[in-house]
Amino acid sequence: MKHWWKEAVIYQIYPRSFQDSNGDGVGDISGIQQRLTYLKDLGVDALWISPINVSPMFDFGYDISDYRAIDPQFGTMKDFDSLIKAARKLDLKILMDLVVNHTSHLHPWFIESRSSKNNPKRDWYIWQPGKKGQLPNNWKSVFGGSAWEWDESTESYFLHSFLSEQPDLNWRNPAVKKQIFSDVEFWLKRGVAGFRLDVVNLYFKDALLRNNPPRFWGWQYPRPYELQYHTYDMSQPEMHPLLRDLRKLLDKYKAMSVGEVFGDYPGDPNKAASYLGNFDELHLAFDFTIMFQKWSSDAFATVMRNWMRACGPENWPSLVLNNHDQGRSYSRYASGKNSDARAKLLATLLLTSRGTPFLYYGEELGMKDGTIARHQLKDPVGIRYWPLNPGRDPQRTPMPWDGTDKGGFTSGDPWLPLNDDTPQRNVAAQLADPESLLSWHKKLIRLRKESPALRLGTWAELEGTSANVFGYIRQHDKDKKSILLNFADRPQVVSHGGTVVLSTHRKKGDKLTSSYELQPYEAIILQ
Ligand code: GLC
Repeated sequence: MKHWWKEAVIYQIYPRSFQDSNGDGVGDISGIQQRLTYLKDLGVDALWISPINVSPMFDFGYDISDYRAIDPQFGTMKDFDSLIKAARKLDLKILMDLVVNHTSHLHPWFIESRSSKNNPKRDWYIWQPGKKGQLPNNWKSVFGGSAWEWDESTESYFLHSFLSEQPDLNWRNPAVKKQIFSDVEFWLKRGVAGFRLDVVNLYFKDALLRNNPPRFWGWQYPRPYELQYHTYDMSQPEMHPLLRDLRKLLDKYKAMSVGEVFGDYPGDPNKAASYLGNFDELHLAFDFTIMFQKWSSDAFATVMRNWMRACGPENWPSLVLNNHDQGRSYSRYASGKNSDARAKLLATLLLTSRGTPFLYYGEELGMKDGTIARHQLKDPVGIRYWPLNPGRDPQRTPMPWDGTDKGGFTSGDPWLPLNDDTPQRNVAAQLADPESLLSWHKKLIRLRKESPALRLGTWAELEGTSANVFGYIRQHDKDKKSILLNFADRPQVVSHGGTVVLSTHRKKGDKLTSSYELQPYEAIILQ
């Protein structure tokens, strides 16, 4: 059976930073609509938009106070309907961010819940009566400190896995599930093609609220959250039946889900894959292990091998190098000499591997992490931990559309500064340059569209390549492609021949027989 989400390339938009249409310095929905033709031309099939629901923005939209409305900073429901319609005309799908581990503390449900112990919504959140200063257990918040916040009015603690402005919902209460499923259906009926599920493995917590075991790191200095194993506050078995129910609802609308499987630095592919169930839970799951690899063919080969194995022949992997929470891959891997060449290699890996690729806005240009001065910080994580941790603002800077002062992003004051290299690195410049990273992404996506092997094929590692080369074969019926990636800064001799379909260094149609040299950082697709 054909599944659109298996063959799609998905593009993540951080809406505050993509395109501002009204000059307030913050990107918005109409801005996205203005850029649809760019996205269509790039070749992507679906857009995942980070949260645009009403939010007091303590965590920039990941704290929602009305699940059925659009935040005025981003526009109106009319704008959203118009975006869906315009996108549909171009055959582009829209995915929303579903943030339902927690709400905003200003959500009417929480306001009611905290108002009294007898309020009907009391049990919609996780409350523990107690004494001020005597924490219910040792659970830590991801953003630092205890996960419990004292509430004076009812003399109880409530749980917040993130900020205290983000109280956790109580998913053990069936009324919560009923309400959220109905909110999901509200958007499906409006034409949304699916959801990215924020921290999908956090919804359920141990019913007995047992203490998490401590974790020792030796000499390293981890964040407080990482000083314990999250045995009891994440990844509880109750999540699986819930996801099976959600899948039924989504499948009714041919919609999809991709879940952020959280925690466990530096990632756990088997755990991420476990949320795919037996083709009956999440459609896709994110495993972030790949983001924490060092630059080497071995490291990347190992991650891909483990991820492919974890998903198995039935379930479908997701492929991701960037998002709004992690430093950009260009800064991680490509700074210094030959940086665009390294970025082209990574793009080839992302867009020729088995699975559904996700691109984060600006990745196609080789956007770097922005330089944010302390007084410009917006992210609560950066504000709390600076300078130990600069937070997530650097990867959220405005999209550089052209080389002008404000990069074509806004006519006003951008909410975060544009990157210093905007005059050189921007969409307009790269559209005009056939050798640019943007042009390379377009070529790869086009090739993927034309090749059943690249879209749907099996994946097998190529044996016997040289030490610095990662090679693999994709095959679907008669279509067979080999991909070779030279991670070294010097030529590498390989003996896997074929006809060049696309290469960073040579012409299409070139025939390669045994024993030839791959150029430094060359990426090559053969058939
Ligand atoms: C996820 C989001 C992150 C947010 C957090 C709390 O990890 O990706 O941006 O801060 O959840 O919702």
